[in-house]
Amino acid sequence: MSYNLLKGKRGIIFGALNDMSIAWKVAERAVEEGAIITLTNTPIAVRMGDVSELSQKLNAEVIPADATSVEDLEEVFAKSMEILGGKIDFVLHSIGMSPNVRKKRTYDDLDYDLLNKTLDISAISFHKMIQVAKKMDAISEGGSIVALSYVAAQRTLYGYNDMADAKSMLESIARSFGYIYGREKRVRVNTISQSPTMTTAGSGVKGMDKLLDFSERMSPLGNASADECAGYCITLFSDLTKKVTMQNLFHDGGFSSMGMSLRAMSQYEKSFDDEGNEILG
Ligand SMILES: NC(=O)c1ccc[n+]([C@@H]2O[C@H](COP(=O)([O-])OP(=O)(O)OC[C@H]3O[C@@H](n4cnc5c(N)ncnc54)[C@H](O)[C@@H]3O)[C@@H](O)[C@H]2O)c1
Repeated sequence: MSYNLLKGKRGIIFGALNDMSIAWKVAERAVEEGAIITLTNTPIAVRMGDVSELSQKLNAEVIPADATSVEDLEEVFAKSMEILGGKIDFVLHSIGMSPNVRKKRTYDDLDYDLLNKTLDISAISFHKMIQVAKKMDAISEGGSIVALSYVAAQRTLYGYNDMADAKSMLESIARSFGYIYGREKRVRVNTISQSPTMTTAGSGVKGMDKLLDFSERMSPLGNASADECAGYCITLFSDLTKKVTMQNLFHDGGFSSMGMSLRAMSQYEKSFDDEGNEILG
């Protein structure tokens, strides 16, 4: 169902790779809500992924760009304004990648060049994106910028590795830039902390299937899906949230506020024998 929440708005969606991507769902939902958009991803993702399928479906042009390159980002904003016919009203940063995770380096054996890449791709690209947009005055007054985060920024979750550090930085950038951009142009900057979701990036996390199951059982409302995340993004792009900025907003069915659930407690009890020893295997 469409509420026309983004009628007449122009947006840029970074990070749609295939139909599992959260950005893919956000792009579909944004157009459904009346927006016109451009899509962007790395040249290799554009070649190897299904972005052109989405582009055709939504009548949205694809601008290949590496989000760690300031030059590429300048081109994304310049071309988007040209194609869409004016300043941009909303931007989604849906980008994450850890070469350390890919190379199976554990957190106590990180490669530091790879850590720099993790931070550049997954967090600093957000700063670059906002700085480029601000210098080009590419975002309209009252516009909205959203990036996707995860609760590992606040809490330690086994296997999330150096992406936890990247997410902490990402959320900090939203606060620091949110202050400056809000004060000067009333532009909102927020992060949405999303439930674990089975996507290409998500499936790279060690033990993802167990993490998904655990948080599904621990959250009173269950895990939030990519479609539901798209719905939440739309509210932040819309005029209904004009005074929401510098926030990390949990979209996780309640997971981040839970300590112990009834389900988890009964499951926990089953892992001990009558003498209180752990039942292994
Ligand atoms: N899947 C989850 O469990 C989950 C949970 C919370 C937050 N998130 C976050 O959501 C965002 C989107 O991830 P997703 O789960 O939809 O996976 P995805 O793999 O579909 O999307 C990740 C995207 O990042 C893009 N990317 C990588 N390097 C890039 C670069 N240098 N420049 C531009 N783009 C680049 C990829 O091409 C891909 O499109 C990420 O920030 C991720 O950390 C995911």
